[in-house]
This record gives sequence, C-alpha cells and structure tokens, in this order.
Amino acid sequence: MSSVIRLPGLIDVHVHLRDPGQTDKEDLLTGTQAALAGGFTTVCDMPNNLNPIMQVDRLIEKRAIAEAKTVADIGFHYGSLGDNIDTFTEAAKYSVGLKLYLNHTTGGYTLDVAHLKRIYEAWPREKVVLLHTEEDTIDLAIASLEGLNRPVHVCHMPSRYVLEKIIEAKAKGIPVTCGVTPHHLFLTAVDAKKLGVYGQMKPPLKSQEDVDFLWSHLDDIDIIESDHAPHTKQQKEEGAFGVPNLETTLPLLLKARAEGKISLEQIIDKCHTKPAQLFNLPTDDSTHVEVTMKPYVINSNDLYTKCGWSPFDGWEVPGQVTKVVLHGKIVYKDGQVVAQPGTGDVVA
Ligand code: DOR
Ligand code: ZN
Repeated sequence: MSSVIRLPGLIDVHVHLRDPGQTDKEDLLTGTQAALAGGFTTVCDMPNNLNPIMQVDRLIEKRAIAEAKTVADIGFHYGSLGDNIDTFTEAAKYSVGLKLYLNHTTGGYTLDVAHLKRIYEAWPREKVVLLHTEEDTIDLAIASLEGLNRPVHVCHMPSRYVLEKIIEAKAKGIPVTCGVTPHHLFLTAVDAKKLGVYGQMKPPLKSQEDVDFLWSHLDDIDIIESDHAPHTKQQKEEGAFGVPNLETTLPLLLKARAEGKISLEQIIDKCHTKPAQLFNLPTDDSTHVEVTMKPYVINSNDLYTKCGWSPFDGWEVPGQVTKVVLHGKIVYKDGQVVAQPGTGDVVA
C-alpha cells in the first residue's frame, strides 16, 4: 500500500495567472485549478498583466474576475513604475504586496531606480515590497535599503552570488527575505541548452555550482515560490521568458526529499508557514492537502495549466497530490478539480 502524507494547504506567493489580458496563456480558473492540482490552496498573482496592475481600478477589476473564477484562495500584488505613488494608500487595501522590477522581463515594466526611495516611503510598511533583482542589480537593491527598516522580499534568487549578498544583508540587520524557484533548484544552464526556448526564464538558469550552493544554504532561503509563468508554445518559440510550475513544485520537492536534500518539515515551513507569516496571509485548520506516495512520471498532457507544456515533462517523481480540502470542502480528488469557479476567497 502506498502511504498518504497530509500537509497544510500550501501557499505560493509568486504566480503569473495572466487574467485579464492574456488568457490565451492562463486565466484565473485554469491557474487556480493548476494550483489545487499542485497542492497550493493560496496563490498571490503578479501585476505584470498586459495592462499592468498599477491603478486601483485594475486591481478592483482583477478582484472581481477572481471572485467569479477562482477555485483556490488568491491575493494580488500591485505594481509601480514610480508614477502612481498617490494611489498606494488605496491600492494597499486590496494588495498583498508591491512588486518592483529592477531587471527587464515579461511586460518590460523595469523601474527607474531613482524612484525607489519615494516608493519605499509611500508604500505601507506592513505590506511587503517584492523585488525582481539579479546579479547586476542586487548591490543597488541592498544599498537602497540601508538604514530604512523597510521589509523587502527578493524573488526567485538564482545564484550563489545573489544569495551571498542576501546573507550579508541579513547579517547587517536589513529586513530582507528571499525565495527560490523549483527551476533554479532543479535545472542548470546545461538543461537550458537542451530545453532550448523552453528553458528560458528570468533570471536565467545558472551553473551546477550555483544549484549546489542553493541546496546547501536552504536555511538562508525563507520560502519556495513557483514563479509559475505560463506562455503558449508559440510564444515560447518567439522568445517569451518563463516556465509553468504550479503542478510540479511539490512533486519535485518530494523527489528532493527522497534524495535527502530537504525534509518534509522544511517543505511545510517554506511553502506554508513562512509565506503566511511574511505576507500576512490567512491560514485555516480546515484546509489541507493529501499526497499519495506512489511514483509517477510528469506528463504535460495531464496538467491543468493552459500552456500545455512543462520543462519537467518525463521526470519521475515519488508522490502526487490526491486530495485537497479547502475551508472544509473537498475541492480536488483523484486528479480532478471538483470545485466550482468562484469557490476561492480573495484575500487582502
Ligand atoms: O521568466 C519570467 N517570467 N520571469 C519573470 O520575471 C516574469 C515571468 C513572466 O511574467 O512571464
Ligand atoms: Zn515572476
């Protein structure tokens, strides 16, 4: 008999569900169905929609779409290019955090760093600022925080270089946290070559030495975030950055657990307890996930995500989500989402 593991509902603070504007890639129904299938009962959606979420009415529109479509709980991050600071007080009421891009990525919403100081002053301190920063912007990002006591989360930290900078900043008492994605933990630049366009994302994949460094410093990494960033196959062929990951994150972590790289306690800490704490997200004792420990092979055709591919297609993993209970109701069972659209709560 295969054993069943029970986990609290997992929380992914970093997904791109593309709705409204790019629902050919994903939408708030398929994206939250993928979340449940992967054991995530709460997700937080990024603001780099086709029309970026940098105005309060867009945030309210997205919330209304979510109320109608989602099957998991969801919160939203707001965005800024430095020209919407007057909207922050109102926007923060409806947001989990504020996402700022210091490097180029999908959408092209790169912030001029001259605005950072005013943004930090205006965004409410109890709501985290999330930074997309890479090797070339991390020094500037950390320097911008010195002496401020402004909580900041560095997203999808890709390399030894960036993690060492964060470890240094933490040692100085700067309230910075960081997350890592499954693709930066399980894939390298060698895989990126093999995967071709399907291995392209921001930040890009790094060396085996980087990957080994991340695994050996897991205690310095606060959370795991999927950075679920679906694009259609055609858009990938045309150079889009990002990979889907909501349905593969937990199975991959279970594989790492079987290899002795991470414990179940660490998985729960980095995919539930810490994200809830850092982003001030509600948790619920009547929400849980059951995983059946029975090996299976990841198959792109079995995924709920609309994009229809995965860089992990063909990987064997040791366990699979077989049941999800959200607020006391069964929402996923034996490979099927059984919840109706609109079941999920909008948080924040
Ligand atoms: O690879 C990425 N894709 N990195 C990002 O920062 C954005 C994301 C997207 O939205 O496609
Ligand atoms: Zn992202």
